[in-house]
Amino acid sequence: MNCATKAAEQIVWVGGNDRRLNLFENAYPLTNGVSYNAYVVLDDKNVLVDTADKAIGDLFLENIEAALNGGRLDYVIVQHMEPDHAATLMRVCERYPEANVVASAKAADMIGQFFGDGLKDRIQPVKEGDVLETGAHKFTFMMAPMVHWPEVMVTYEQTTKTLFSADAFGTFGAVSGFLFADEVNFERDWLDEARRYYANIVGKYGAPVQALLKKAAGLEIGMICPLHGPLWRENIAWYVDKYQKWSTYTPEEEGVLIAYASVYGHTENAAEVLAMDLRELGVKKIAMYDVSVTHPSYILSEMFRFGKLAFLSSTYNSGIFPAMETLLHDVKAHALKKRTVALVENGSWAPTSGKQMREVLSGLQNMNVLENTVSIRSALNADTREQLRELARALAEN
Ligand code: FEO
Repeated sequence: MNCATKAAEQIVWVGGNDRRLNLFENAYPLTNGVSYNAYVVLDDKNVLVDTADKAIGDLFLENIEAALNGGRLDYVIVQHMEPDHAATLMRVCERYPEANVVASAKAADMIGQFFGDGLKDRIQPVKEGDVLETGAHKFTFMMAPMVHWPEVMVTYEQTTKTLFSADAFGTFGAVSGFLFADEVNFERDWLDEARRYYANIVGKYGAPVQALLKKAAGLEIGMICPLHGPLWRENIAWYVDKYQKWSTYTPEEEGVLIAYASVYGHTENAAEVLAMDLRELGVKKIAMYDVSVTHPSYILSEMFRFGKLAFLSSTYNSGIFPAMETLLHDVKAHALKKRTVALVENGSWAPTSGKQMREVLSGLQNMNVLENTVSIRSALNADTREQLRELARALAEN
């Protein structure tokens, strides 16, 4: 049975949830699934804004049929070709052969790459500022390259003041009945996952997100309809402010992220001691993770939250402990900026992880890696204990 539901008078949510998916993009663990949002906008001409992942394909088609209620589908707007949204495009187009496919030139190329030439004659290419009128509704297309792929565009519907924002303003997590952020406690129950989604999915693309925010600032926005997670119609400025901070790599709040890699617990002990020192120095928030236990996507997300970071790693096979190396690779891949970093290495005969961690971080912009690496030989002693206190002081005071 369909679960299509009204988001506004003539806008119907026709998406669905996947709570069985363990890894989004086969990379990011999900604990509460993910939603694939898509929308039908009813008018003289009916529009579908984006399609959905194949996991919800059958339900998605039922939802569209229910939303159209016997009407025809005239346009499918393709904002983003990543298969979590576009995998069912061909199925939809086969079901509704009269529908034109509205897409950017780059998206049109990708449609060919994914589906061959079958849809070629049905594509209506659009560029920045083009307008599609469907009766009372007026859709304006704005290119948003690299939020999150190069072909991405977003769509502003003038009559309802709705921004269909593609991946922007999305989040991990299935929507459970309540479609709008104002119907749930978003800050308590969703913000961490929204930040983790942002950091890992679009975190690398701060400048393109900034470009999109600048375009959006010129619009009167009454509702934001993203492709994942709750929709926004209240308190939009609060969420835009989060995006403003994340996309400029501005720490969201005061605090320290400590990530450690420890084989037998001695590096972990140094992390615990460092945390206690920071607390005594007045630091109010500390998030601490064992990199062998917690998936890097969660730890990276905390790095977008806090401005101060500490990495402590055992030396392993003359290098950085593998789980820490993976995490730092992620930091580099997502081009994190504007952070102060403290480093601690451990090694029983030839500690080298500190130097190598510094090398990984050296290519990143505006990273203040504190000069003195604390180098532990097997376990903290009186000397390295004091060095750790000094490091905590430098980190807290920086
Ligand atoms: Fe939700 Fe970039 O796809």
